[in-house]
Amino acid sequence: MTKINRQYFLTEFPKGMPTEETFRLVETTTPELEEGQVLVRTVYLSVDPYMRGRMSGVKTYIDPFTLDRPLTGGVVGQVEASKDANFEVGEIVAGLLDWADYTVASGKHLKKVPAFLKPVSAALGVAGMPGCTAYFGLLDIGQPKEGETVVVSGAAGAVGTVVGQIAKIKGCRVVGIAGGPDKVAYLRDELGFDEVIDYKAGDLREALQAACPNGVDIYFDNVGGTISDEVMRLINFHARIILCGQIADYNLEKPEQGPRHFGQLLVKSAMAKGFIVSNYNDRMLEGITQIGQWLGEGKLKFRETITEGLENTPQAFLGLFRGENTGKMLVKVSDVQGQ
Ligand SMILES: NC(=O)c1ccc[n+]([C@@H]2O[C@H](COP(=O)([O-])OP(=O)(O)OC[C@H]3O[C@@H](n4cnc5c(N)ncnc54)[C@H](OP(=O)(O)O)[C@@H]3O)[C@@H](O)[C@H]2O)c1
Repeated sequence: MTKINRQYFLTEFPKGMPTEETFRLVETTTPELEEGQVLVRTVYLSVDPYMRGRMSGVKTYIDPFTLDRPLTGGVVGQVEASKDANFEVGEIVAGLLDWADYTVASGKHLKKVPAFLKPVSAALGVAGMPGCTAYFGLLDIGQPKEGETVVVSGAAGAVGTVVGQIAKIKGCRVVGIAGGPDKVAYLRDELGFDEVIDYKAGDLREALQAACPNGVDIYFDNVGGTISDEVMRLINFHARIILCGQIADYNLEKPEQGPRHFGQLLVKSAMAKGFIVSNYNDRMLEGITQIGQWLGEGKLKFRETITEGLENTPQAFLGLFRGENTGKMLVKVSDVQGQ
């Protein structure tokens, strides 16, 4: 069974902020399946900030994208044809697949999305990689204790929304930092954050001081840059700084020189630790099970920002750097069929 397919490739390794010209959509046909392979139709495609690092042509903790292979990312899809006895036509699966209408993948690289998970897109957000990033980063590195003050930057995004809610579950006082009044209202009124600061309005230093009268015990850093410089001024004795992301830096052509934080870590006997969620691959089931339980109990809520159409994937990706998402940013490529 072959299908007409569209796949996204990079046209270049962008310097600075990518543009729509960084991406090209190419029409092809899918190859015939070999033994062990599965034809997956993309239903939802995840765009994530870390992909910007893979567009630089340089190996980090993960291989870079190349110019001659389609871009890849988290996908939830539906099996269209299968030569792997473990997968049946119509099943919902997840994997690291192409930015495309279809991917031919080895069955070994696919996971089944459990039938109880609704909507299936949650497998790419709250019940997937971003949710587990929040879970392991906050709980394993942050070790939150009741009554502590937790500050989270990028608070209205896929990771940040989960961090703040888990910190509330653990009895902490939660201060979020996000861009714009709608995000502030969502975090405070719907997710129950104690304080939310709009870093695009007013004086961040003053707002942080007012929101953290007892200092900062845990800082979950999703953004870096000047926002983190201000939070670091307020850390307490034995504070834990969780280095999750530095999105403010991802599109800089030259690194910025900010304040040097080591002295502050020293005098506060504080700890800053980076991590990659895949460090916790052997504990993923624990994270997903706990998140699933909290979702079922109504203790965790989530939102998704969904862009329609594969052809709009670059706009969705670039929108991450313009703050266009609340919760998980996704692209809807096709409908789930027959369920
Ligand atoms: N360590 C890991 O394993 C791991 C795993 C997943 C994600 N991450 C990192 O965690 C962070 C959050 O990821 P996510 O998937 O949840 O993305 P996200 O927060 O859903 O989306 C990105 C958000 O970042 C904010 N932002 C963009 N540019 C910014 C800038 N220059 N300064 C301040 N804020 C900016 C925007 O929100 P505003 O409107 O509020 O500005 C935007 O909505 C990213 O840095 C990502 O790389 C790390």
